[in-house]
Amino acid sequence: MCGIVGYIGNKEALPFLINGLKKLEYRGYDSAGFCIQHDGKLSVVKRKGKVKELENASKSLKITGHMGIAHTRWATHGAPNEANAHPHLDCKGAIAIVHNGIIENYGALKEMLKKEGHRFFSETDTEVLAHLIEKFKGKNLESAVAMALKLVEGTFGLLVIDKTSQEIIAAKKGSPLLLGIGSQEIIIASDASAIAGHTKKVVYLNDSEMAIISSNNYVVKNVNGKVVEKKIHDMEMTVQQIEKRGFKHFMAKEIFEQPLAIENTLRGRIGDGRIKLSIDVDVKKVKRIIITACGTSWHSALIGKYLIEKIIGIQVEVDYASEFRYRNPIIKKGDLVVAISQSGETADTLAALKEAKQKGAKTLGVVNVVGSTVAREVDFGIYLHAGPEIGVASTKAFTCQVTALLLFALYLQQQKGVLDKKILEELKKIPAKIEEILKESKNIRILAQKFKASKNFLYLGRGLNFPVALEGALKLKEISYIHAEGYPAAEMKHGPIALIDEHMPVVFIAPKDDTYQKIISNMQEIKARGGTVIAIINENEPYIAALTNHVIKVPKTLDILSPLLNVIPLQLLAYHIADLKGLNVDKPRNLAKSVTVE
Ligand code: AGP
Ligand code: GLU
Repeated sequence: MCGIVGYIGNKEALPFLINGLKKLEYRGYDSAGFCIQHDGKLSVVKRKGKVKELENASKSLKITGHMGIAHTRWATHGAPNEANAHPHLDCKGAIAIVHNGIIENYGALKEMLKKEGHRFFSETDTEVLAHLIEKFKGKNLESAVAMALKLVEGTFGLLVIDKTSQEIIAAKKGSPLLLGIGSQEIIIASDASAIAGHTKKVVYLNDSEMAIISSNNYVVKNVNGKVVEKKIHDMEMTVQQIEKRGFKHFMAKEIFEQPLAIENTLRGRIGDGRIKLSIDVDVKKVKRIIITACGTSWHSALIGKYLIEKIIGIQVEVDYASEFRYRNPIIKKGDLVVAISQSGETADTLAALKEAKQKGAKTLGVVNVVGSTVAREVDFGIYLHAGPEIGVASTKAFTCQVTALLLFALYLQQQKGVLDKKILEELKKIPAKIEEILKESKNIRILAQKFKASKNFLYLGRGLNFPVALEGALKLKEISYIHAEGYPAAEMKHGPIALIDEHMPVVFIAPKDDTYQKIISNMQEIKARGGTVIAIINENEPYIAALTNHVIKVPKTLDILSPLLNVIPLQLLAYHIADLKGLNVDKPRNLAKSVTVE
């Protein structure tokens, strides 16, 4: 998911590689490295941590050469450390590769290569590519890469060099790669920001295309080896814009990334109608599930309770991690404790996990950051693969957590031989349905304009949309500093209704599910008291207009999948209100992206 830079030309490669990686740092990463070819040798330097450390390490080595590749890694397979950092080499150290993406069948490939005598030096999926290319390496690097990639399932943005060829081989499938065409030099990158400032002439590789790149020429071929004519585009975006892919804030980019992020959470896990999770949880041995988390992750935990109890019928308890760790929890045989954490470093969640382990519970982690402490502490883990979440307010991690919890519930159901394929089929449509909702962003910004001066909001939902109400309120609170409260819709009568007047906007999450008529009654109660109603609905029936001041339509889906759609307009409403207030959306006051203190 992170950063790739390659250089071949008439200048020293290393400054281009280091400065290119620095321009990709915004994407979030855990380690970095480069390889430079010179005089028939490959010089490789890798470091865990920041590009600066890599730069400092290279200074004392005086590495020269006009051709090289470099990478900032966001770990998916194998902890963030120097050995797992890219570039990766073949057995003889004669081929070097850097890779963005996930090799889904790396396990089988690794077994095959090991049987053929290849020795591996890392835990990554990527390294199998280096040995696969070695396996096919005759004279020609290009054909070795082409043959190797025919065996690969998964996604890649890939650069390959060897000790002697005067070409860089680039290959792309499901992870971006583009060429910056300079005079006497070509820069290859996963993100235009590494090219901006060097040239405006760029060529974008399409999926299943490969480029053979020398200092003053390049050839692009398709999967059949046929030469493809490529258009040279003028790149107008400024570096600043590119860093956020044209979005004003990382939070906006991450809201709009959710269709892809959910696809990445699902990738390799729902093929041929079966759930595939690399965990070992026996449904017959699980008597109770306790989910512990903080903040937004606690909201996804509440939804997880609904999903798991409805789909598999195992009792689920949900606990704030900060409460769980101090209440001397009763842990019995057959208890499975699930820790949900985007960062995998939240102090309260880590402490709760430790408490659960000390009391003998089996533990499962639902984590985004690979190799994070939670990921290393649990017995089993489900990675989100959502890519780095940089905005402090969590968005894509939330929807990917809900997706991962759904996969877990279906994984347990599958063990009972009753996998509900209807859910699976509808789940595949969710990214496209989110795309539909994202098109409403401009209208939601108009709505935000009307309410940005409000001092209080109430968010109401029922069933598994009650946690969505909580999440919508949290999003607004943490980035716009407007007080907001999420509440079960029916509970509003038992107190909060006293707050209702024309200054208190009430957001209803009102999908057409089995509690819809009840929610309609709640809307009437608010309107009868002069309240202002904003409703998230599926269909704009005639009577809705009389009950609401504003509506946001979202596509219909299965009831248990509706939180994945209903939360999107709430994220956008909070984002636009905060942006219109001119606040620091990505770094709200007093907040940290990962609360590593108690
Ligand atoms: C959510 O928008 C907040 N940033 C915060 O509540 C966050 O969800 C909480 O700190 C938990 O973080 P984690 O998922 O990384 O453990
Ligand atoms: N899957 C590869 C790894 O874990 C690449 C990750 C990335 O895209 O940075 O090393």
